[in-house]
Amino acid sequence: MKINLKLILCGVAMLLSSVAFAIIPQPQSLKSVEGEFVVKPSTVIAFNCDELRPLAVYMLDYLAVKRVVKQAPADNFISVELQSGFDAEAYRLTISEKGVRIVAGDYGGAFCGVQTLLQMMPSRVYTKQMKLPVKVACCEVEDAPQFAYRGFMLDVARTWVTTENVKRYIDWLAYHKINRLHWHLSDDQGWRVEIKSHRELTEQGGFRGGSSPVPPMYGKWHERYGGYYSQSEIREIVEYARVRNIEVIPEIDLPGHSWAFASVHPEILCGYPYDKAHVSGGLDTRNVFCATKESNYELLNEVLAEVCALFPSEYIHIGGDEVSLSQWKRCPDCSAYLKRHGYTDAHKLEDYFIERIDQILKKYGKRPAVWNEGINGGGLDKSTRVHGWSNMKECRKVLEAGYSTIFMPAEYFYFDMRQSRREVGSNWSNIFDVKHTYSFDFAKHGFSAEQVAQVEGFEGAFWSEIALSQGGDRSTDYLEYMTFPRVCAVAELGWGKHGSDWENFYARLHGNHYDRMSAMGINYRLMPPTVKYVDGALVATTDDGAAIYYRQEDSDRFVRYSRPVKCAKPGEYLFRSEYGNAHSPQTAHSDHYKSIKPAFVLTSSIGSGREDGYKRVEEYRGRVTTARTCHDGDWFLFEFAEPVECRQMEFVTGYTHIAHRLFPTGYLEVSYDGEKFEQGASLVDGCAKVVKPLAPIKAVRIVSTTHRNSTTGVVINPPIIKPVL
Ligand code: ACM
Ligand code: ZN
Repeated sequence: MKINLKLILCGVAMLLSSVAFAIIPQPQSLKSVEGEFVVKPSTVIAFNCDELRPLAVYMLDYLAVKRVVKQAPADNFISVELQSGFDAEAYRLTISEKGVRIVAGDYGGAFCGVQTLLQMMPSRVYTKQMKLPVKVACCEVEDAPQFAYRGFMLDVARTWVTTENVKRYIDWLAYHKINRLHWHLSDDQGWRVEIKSHRELTEQGGFRGGSSPVPPMYGKWHERYGGYYSQSEIREIVEYARVRNIEVIPEIDLPGHSWAFASVHPEILCGYPYDKAHVSGGLDTRNVFCATKESNYELLNEVLAEVCALFPSEYIHIGGDEVSLSQWKRCPDCSAYLKRHGYTDAHKLEDYFIERIDQILKKYGKRPAVWNEGINGGGLDKSTRVHGWSNMKECRKVLEAGYSTIFMPAEYFYFDMRQSRREVGSNWSNIFDVKHTYSFDFAKHGFSAEQVAQVEGFEGAFWSEIALSQGGDRSTDYLEYMTFPRVCAVAELGWGKHGSDWENFYARLHGNHYDRMSAMGINYRLMPPTVKYVDGALVATTDDGAAIYYRQEDSDRFVRYSRPVKCAKPGEYLFRSEYGNAHSPQTAHSDHYKSIKPAFVLTSSIGSGREDGYKRVEEYRGRVTTARTCHDGDWFLFEFAEPVECRQMEFVTGYTHIAHRLFPTGYLEVSYDGEKFEQGASLVDGCAKVVKPLAPIKAVRIVSTTHRNSTTGVVINPPIIKPVL
């Protein structure tokens, strides 16, 4: 085989230079040049047109220099300039000993050039406290994104995120050249945008629990909690994002996911008036606007008029996902519509609904974007933007139907999914970390070049049902941990992932970008250490330079790992790595995770009747859902055939990791003889443990102290029982 040595050397040089600069997303072309530019306190920032003034001011904040001028001097400058001849968001960055020039055809290109420059500075630049002078290596960068849409969807409806935290998040997206914030502002659990002609939507629908008509469903229960954005806060956020090259696209999720709206305005539902007591018993499928009530379109016209005026974006996302057709089929007016038109498929009502909303949006100069179910009726206007989310198959259908598509199949792009098997997060679509997101490849999934040309771009997403039970509105730590560095992979895919591979990306990530993200203030996730038990000692390693810490199972105190940990019971130790603000999930030897499944009988005060709910008691082996919600004093009793010797027993009511269909408050009672019960731990988010029991356990009772959990049932899972090591 003939080997082209020159090509290989050239490839190695490219790799070295790109890893040395470690830019994320990787520029299309980056050429190192001899020399360096020194940023000094006297360096000036120059801009050549008024449109770029906000960008010049933005740079001042980061670069620790003092002066902004209209025309660049002969040297000692950093200039941003607009010129013709560039594609959208393309830019040229030239660093010479005299100065730095960023030239682009539009604001977005200039902004992206500035982000590349910031990544060439010491990571302290992101703290806005960089000490000068700073040397930057000379180079020439020619760069442009492959995809126009590089987005992130933030759900602030399930878990309230303050204006300040939304802005912080916008900063982080902008550092990665993400240019769209898809802002999920309404859902079953909250309405977050102030509508002046309908203040009740936020004043009541912005809060749930306590005295709110919107019942709680996840996380908090007895407390009224939530929040909303005033119109002036929204304008402030939109402008903040604009300066950072991010277009904010609001989503008002219609006609389904409208439980919060319907809690305030029940007349929007099919078949109202109805038995309200039934609805207050829990979320049912009545979260859908009736498609044939004229008054609904009048109401939505008033609401959308204000939404359209608030957001300059061309598109307004109007939802269209997970619409329960059962309400429409049962509604005399909606079913009469289907009959009149000779339709047998109730999806036609969704076509009709979207068409009516499209007409409203057109009046205000806007176009609709929808989730992929929006195409199911077959009548969706071809100019609609469609977000493919459910899975690859649905994304393919959207492309094949000819829609301009945002690619975000959940198995790669839903960052509320947990990142490894035993971590927090959802798992209904997949369990994956940054490496999997990064691995997304159209060719691997058999998409043609023509199909790819129809893709507008990618979008990462964070649904926040679980966030509330992880600190939620008190802290954004969970959001950060779940989304970074997976957002970095979206940035790289959206930019074009040109010629790079995982090793190259990962080297850039931990080589420099970890430091940057720490300086940005992000609590990102590290890859877990590898732990092996060799010759009677636990050996832990990382491949990203992060320090390793470990603790014993019954201690909260981590100690720094410096050498293999000699031990007879490897399952007793947990390891994690830490770097800057970041940490990895905990990991342990496989012994730690072993569980036993002793026989037991489960009974419940909720009963086992056909009507009242709790079925399959006798043959209970897995998760069971009751057919009614909990009452104060309700219980589940696990009685073991033989006393169980163990080091821990964990009980989970509700879906694992989601505070939903649970006993919101309650406690455990433990019995060592099957007769006498002692009160044990209180439930937190529906879960509690018996740790280091005093003797083998004969029975455990879980008692609810909450009357109604805002859903129609309770889920009880099999206990997780860890044997004595
Ligand atoms: C969705 O996840 N329901 C769009
Ligand atoms: Zn109806």
